[in-house]
Amino acid sequence: MATAMIDTPPATVDLLAKFDPIIQTREALLAAGVEDPFNLVMEKVLSPTRAICNGRDTILLGTYNYMGMTFDPDVIEAGKRAMEEFGAGTTGSRVLNGTFRDHRDVETALREFYGMDHAMVFSTGYQANLGIISTLAGKGDYIILDIDSHASIWDGCAMGNAEVVPFKHNDVEALEKRLKRVPEGAGKLVVLEGVYSMMGDVAPLKEMVRVCKENGATVLVDEAHSMGFIGEHGRGVAEEQGVLDDVDFIIGTFSKSVGTVGGFCVSNHPKFEVLRLVCRPYVFTAALPPAVMASSATSIRKLMHGGNKRAHLWENSRTLHGGLKALGFQLGTDTPQSAIIAVIMPDLEKGAMMWEALLKEGLYVNLARPPATPAGMTLLRCSLCAEHTAEQVQTILGMFERAGKAIGII
Ligand SMILES: Cc1ncc(COP(=O)(O)O)c(C=O)c1O
Repeated sequence: MATAMIDTPPATVDLLAKFDPIIQTREALLAAGVEDPFNLVMEKVLSPTRAICNGRDTILLGTYNYMGMTFDPDVIEAGKRAMEEFGAGTTGSRVLNGTFRDHRDVETALREFYGMDHAMVFSTGYQANLGIISTLAGKGDYIILDIDSHASIWDGCAMGNAEVVPFKHNDVEALEKRLKRVPEGAGKLVVLEGVYSMMGDVAPLKEMVRVCKENGATVLVDEAHSMGFIGEHGRGVAEEQGVLDDVDFIIGTFSKSVGTVGGFCVSNHPKFEVLRLVCRPYVFTAALPPAVMASSATSIRKLMHGGNKRAHLWENSRTLHGGLKALGFQLGTDTPQSAIIAVIMPDLEKGAMMWEALLKEGLYVNLARPPATPAGMTLLRCSLCAEHTAEQVQTILGMFERAGKAIGII
């Protein structure tokens, strides 16, 4: 009788070992006694600008709730009604059983908002970039993009398998040079953002879009951080700089000014509707719940008439930017360009200490670090809301002054 050989199984390679340096950095930070900046819990949300965080009454200065729509009574009511009428979820893809009345309605609201022929709603802004970029530009095509582009843009480029050519942040000449080097006859997609979310700076879209058109490129602009706030009607930086009609595709999200969740693309391209059949992150995922769609449609329609809120948000941005600068903080932009004001920290350790000191003062801001930030920077990102009162902005400045002095940053 043959005896079975018992082989020792090969050692399992730990697939998470590549993240050991990140685990060590985090452990070192927590060992220094700092509260975990990436594990904050909002125990109760009191309004668009206040929450109970880790047991404290806290002013929120690190959400993307630019227009404060999360607690708008009409937005909430629309969501409640849709949930009662249509149930909690769609349980299906947009191309099968997942298109309900309110998915259609939110696309109508987007077409009205931008004055464009077509609108397509995705489950998130991340998926909108992933889907549209990978579907537009495939093997053999060229994508020319700003080096500081959002992760969802980079991931969309990788998924489509196009040639990816980055250019120096906001540099019109560098963009033009790259465009001129693309081989004759190849498809060219230029991907830009209106507002860059880490530093809060605005793109020179007017010049960039001109250069794209002169070189036969299709232009896509991600207006995630400008929709609702920038431009006379809140259509974004392309509206503000007078180039909306020359942009071929606009990407946006509901998770910022709209105050809900979801992503979208709007366009006047005559063949746009085919994208619903071929765009994998649209087809192969469940459609958003009807309550989210109804809330979003109501919010978008209210944002069309949000002129007063936009004016107040600009006022807040100017006051906070000027105040922080006067206190001696180093900021991401010389002038206020958006609702985001980035405060540059000397390093991660000081950044985390300052973040914690602000939290103890009763202020929440975003601690941002590489790979999300450019040039290896640690930032305290402040994002303002149209619902912050002038008094709250003054309170915030007082908190920054005390924390900055205590940590030795100013
Ligand atoms: C520029 C940009 N595009 C897209 C997204 C993704 O949006 P969403 O949160 O809807 O996935 C973000 C999110 O922060 C962003 O900053």
